[in-house]
Amino acid sequence: MIGTHGRVQFSPHQGLAATLPGGAGWPPTHEAMENQTRSVRRRRTATQARTRTGSLPGPVPILETVHDVARSLCFVEGRGAPLDAAVAGVMALLNSDGVAILTRERRGEYLFVKADGILGEWQGFSLSGEPAQMLDALIERDDIVLFKRAQRSPWAREFLFAAGMEWGALAPVRVREERVGAMLVNQVTAPHVRSEHAAGLMTLATLAGVAILEARRHAKSEEIFMGVIVSLTMALEAKDPYTEGHSVRVAAYSEAIGKQMGLPPAALDTIHRTCLVHDIGKIAVDEAILTKGSPLSEVEREKMDMHVLIGESILKPLRILHPLLPGVRSHHENFDGSGYPDGLKGEEIPLEARVLAVADAFDAMTTDRPYRVALSEEEALAELRRTAGRQFDPRVVAAFEQIFPAVKRTLQNLRPRRP
Ligand SMILES: [Fe+2]
Repeated sequence: MIGTHGRVQFSPHQGLAATLPGGAGWPPTHEAMENQTRSVRRRRTATQARTRTGSLPGPVPILETVHDVARSLCFVEGRGAPLDAAVAGVMALLNSDGVAILTRERRGEYLFVKADGILGEWQGFSLSGEPAQMLDALIERDDIVLFKRAQRSPWAREFLFAAGMEWGALAPVRVREERVGAMLVNQVTAPHVRSEHAAGLMTLATLAGVAILEARRHAKSEEIFMGVIVSLTMALEAKDPYTEGHSVRVAAYSEAIGKQMGLPPAALDTIHRTCLVHDIGKIAVDEAILTKGSPLSEVEREKMDMHVLIGESILKPLRILHPLLPGVRSHHENFDGSGYPDGLKGEEIPLEARVLAVADAFDAMTTDRPYRVALSEEEALAELRRTAGRQFDPRVVAAFEQIFPAVKRTLQNLRPRRP
């Protein structure tokens, strides 16, 4: 059965205006965020108590719930919070057993970006085929759908995900003309849904859409920042034919090592990005030191060693690059504690830094330098083996040995031009 409802435009809640960007409550504090989550949970508990007597919340609690979720959009920390609040809001609104938010990755493909309750296990899964096509149609129509298992509708067949669920609802997630995704509700028993609940669901879905678009905007900014930093690193390396392409090769080796070690995709991504910018601090090191054709003096070595701290301080102001800081700071630490800048030992050294160190050393050894010619790949590998346990993490060196044949095959494409 397809349910329809009239769109309700809620009047701005008086308290809401004060907490929107530019208002007196902006920016919100961590404490405010905590209070926010507690507030939505309190309402949910109150709703559950009401539902035991068979009724859903009235217009005022609905408005309060919507208000809470709208406030959560103001949070600048913890970008998961607005979607958590939207899901908790729907739980409170309909006393739901399961709520999920799906984003449209492309036409005919959706991703469960947030799922709670009985639908919680779906988080991270994608959806394609007929149900995804039905969601495409839902978004185009821009209206909610209510369905019961007993009615045997295609909606009930495709969207009552959990066993024992008898009732469901789907709301399109649209923000202006952006088709963002859909919000799914599953319940054991059918509630008595009035127009204000339908309107509340639609509004919460729209708020979730605003949060998703905001998160995407952040991600885009992050990519732009990252692009600028990587360009700077490339420009720095390109000035010196001995180091040209160094970071790209180190990133390729490190990612292959990480995969061999079974690291999850998020860790591989962090390692890859860290490698691309790991020597950004050299931008502040005297060019005469960087390109010196003989071993460095003690003073020059000290200045050179500063590049790990300078790199960290360059990236630090950009919070979105913080996951890269440990690798940048610690990529010259040695496994036996003899490295710099902190003299960390063994597993005190962040894993990404231990991986990077092996890849960095291999590339340095197999590349011509002003003061020596390159070692062969086999000679460099033997050197890594020899110093495993002292300079390098033996586990990382072992992983590198495993991927070495593949590295060797692809090395030709990544080699720098000869000076
Ligand atoms: Fe370095």
